[in-house]
Amino acid sequence: MTMIVKAVDEIDYDGLLKAAEILRAGGLVAFPTETVYGLGANAFLGEAVVKIFVAKGRPQDNPLIVHVSSMEMLDECAEVPDERIYKVMEELWPGPLTVVLPKREGIPDQVTAGLNTVGIRMPDNKIALELIRLAGVPVAAPSANISGKPSPTEARHVIDDLFGKVDVIIDGGKCSFGLESTVVDFSGGKPLILRPGAVSFSVLKKFFAEVEYDPAIIKGSNIEVPKAPGMKYRHYAPEAGIIVVKGDTDKRIKKIKEIKRDLEAKGCQVGILCFYENAGYFEGKYRIILGSIFDYEECGRNLFSAFRSFDELGVDYIICEWENLGTDYIALENRLFKASAGNVIEVL
Ligand code: TXA
Ligand code: MG
Repeated sequence: MTMIVKAVDEIDYDGLLKAAEILRAGGLVAFPTETVYGLGANAFLGEAVVKIFVAKGRPQDNPLIVHVSSMEMLDECAEVPDERIYKVMEELWPGPLTVVLPKREGIPDQVTAGLNTVGIRMPDNKIALELIRLAGVPVAAPSANISGKPSPTEARHVIDDLFGKVDVIIDGGKCSFGLESTVVDFSGGKPLILRPGAVSFSVLKKFFAEVEYDPAIIKGSNIEVPKAPGMKYRHYAPEAGIIVVKGDTDKRIKKIKEIKRDLEAKGCQVGILCFYENAGYFEGKYRIILGSIFDYEECGRNLFSAFRSFDELGVDYIICEWENLGTDYIALENRLFKASAGNVIEVL
């Protein structure tokens, strides 16, 4: 049985205490963070961590992020090879930044998939922080979805994917950010951004002039093998096939209508994911608005739940409009393009 703990307006503190005990003892607890919901296990117990992979159907070679509630906890999990990394953490934690560091012995191979590094972050969510603090141990947690599906940004997404497979689901309402954390590798040489997220390149650059993107992210191609094992799979994806149409407004709108007509002629149900500003061009029951084209935060918050809504509608294809929107939109673009498995049509 899965216990649901309510923590939306008021926190059910007894429930949270129970969840923390279960977590500490080796059970699985799904909990809210500011990015997406996580599926947590005691990071010191290899046999507890294995259950996460089973519940999610996650490939064994994909390491987990360890969540901490204090700097003391960080020190139990990893070495910090450079003073500047402390500075970054002081400034940006709690927050959506995961640092990959040389791991300490207490972290078992099941967490790191055998790597000698570990990804760590302190989430900016009071329920998550309190849960970890009460458990008294660092918490290994991937996103709380079935592997390959969009990350959950509301408790009902977690319930849909994992009810009956985990011990506790804590309902903390909607995630405020909605896309996963920025992952930066600090384990050797130059800091390398392995996954774009809320913390931008320019912010990291202020701390580390030499920071770079993993080349696989920029090219978005299959030529380079990403350094974050998790970035190599088709990811964040709904059941429906995704087609991204990128280009100037008028041209992409025309192209989207064309593709939609062709697919519908073949008997397919076609969803449209569009910006608020262009919603008028795509009237119909299979249209979902991502957010304002000027508001990357709103769009980021809505992306994964839009994907799940399309699956509920049962569409065969989702056509998404896109254009070059600058560096604030990189995390969003990365998730969208990965979900499409590279199916991006550029109209010139
Ligand atoms: O926002 C987030 O990061 C959420 C919440 C729950 O904290 N978690 C999350 O976890 O997105 P997950 O497992 O879905 O993604 C973790 C990513 C994967 O791409 C994984 O390969 C990478 O981080 N990663 C973890 N440890 C690593 C390591 N030691 N070296 C390289 N990449 C690592
Ligand atoms: Mg994930």
